[in-house]
Amino acid sequence: MKRVFSGVQPTGNIHIGNYLGALKQFVDLQEDHECIYCIVDEHAITLPQDPQELRNHILDVAALYLAIGIDPKKSIIFVQSDVSGHAELGWVLCCNCYTGELSRMTQFKAKSGGQESVGTGLLTYPVLMAADILLYDTDVVPVGNDQKQHIELCRDIAIRVNHRFKDTFVVPEGRFMKAGARIMALDDPTAKMSKSAEAIHSRISLLDEDNKIKKSIMRATTDSDGEIRFDPEAKPGVSNLLNIYSAFSGEEVEAVAAHFAGKGYGDLKKELVAVAQEALAPIKKNYEEIRHSEELKMTLRDGAERAGAIAEKTMKRVRDTFGLGF
Ligand code: TYM
Repeated sequence: MKRVFSGVQPTGNIHIGNYLGALKQFVDLQEDHECIYCIVDEHAITLPQDPQELRNHILDVAALYLAIGIDPKKSIIFVQSDVSGHAELGWVLCCNCYTGELSRMTQFKAKSGGQESVGTGLLTYPVLMAADILLYDTDVVPVGNDQKQHIELCRDIAIRVNHRFKDTFVVPEGRFMKAGARIMALDDPTAKMSKSAEAIHSRISLLDEDNKIKKSIMRATTDSDGEIRFDPEAKPGVSNLLNIYSAFSGEEVEAVAAHFAGKGYGDLKKELVAVAQEALAPIKKNYEEIRHSEELKMTLRDGAERAGAIAEKTMKRVRDTFGLGF
């Protein structure tokens, strides 16, 4: 069975972009893959975090993992800082990566832009992400489009090390959804839907109430020509709504566009409200049952043990390869 690894930052406001781009794949893949899903708290501290809030968000994301249908009997769910191999391998990989490669990353440029002094962690963030992936001999990494460049860097580092020391790392592949890979902000379809945007109607969070889902969709930015067709260049707002509909329903985006041809934007929005509300209702219900249960922490402890055992095997190989220790 091929091995899958992916992670989500515990930063609150997990939204339908995260779900349709990445999390939904996590659930589907567990049927015929060996899956490892991480809550990447060490990535979160590349920006300042309130410690208590961070701890709460770790459990929020863990509860969401279970609520969307990740089954801890089939998949490993754990917290990154519980397995020390991530930080250790991160350092080894830092020594096999160039600062030029890191400063060219678009996410680094976006996050560091306009700041007087930039934390080193923000620069080396993709190296830690490469360590996450390579630590588990991962074959497949399900993510949204915004992580494509980071996956490429991970592959480059793995290939570089393998060139010097044969067969040290498995070279992974990214896996991207057709419709969900890049969900745009509802209020500005030229920008990615993000956890940190101030405008709450820019996104739909997975735990939003029905009324909020309705408001955010009904006021979503469209255009003035009134025709429903899929054309992301000319009609980014309408195309984003069609994409979201497609990703939730599983219907091809062309079929969704055909279904709405000749109808008004109001019809598209109303039907999308119903589709989104229906899809998110069971997630919210499950989440409420799981979030404060003892079972949640037990799942994370068990996951850390299972992940740690795999990681330790890789680290032994890496230490031997590089001549670390004696
Ligand atoms: P994060 O926490 O920002 O996002 C989690 C996942 O959601 C995807 N995503 C989106 N997909 C579609 N449309 C959007 N608007 C959208 N916004 C976010 C992201 O691509 C991601 O898959 N660096 C990662 C976390 C990470 C990781 C890893 C992922 C750390 N180590 C190892 C995979 C493997 C991140 O910040 O994701």
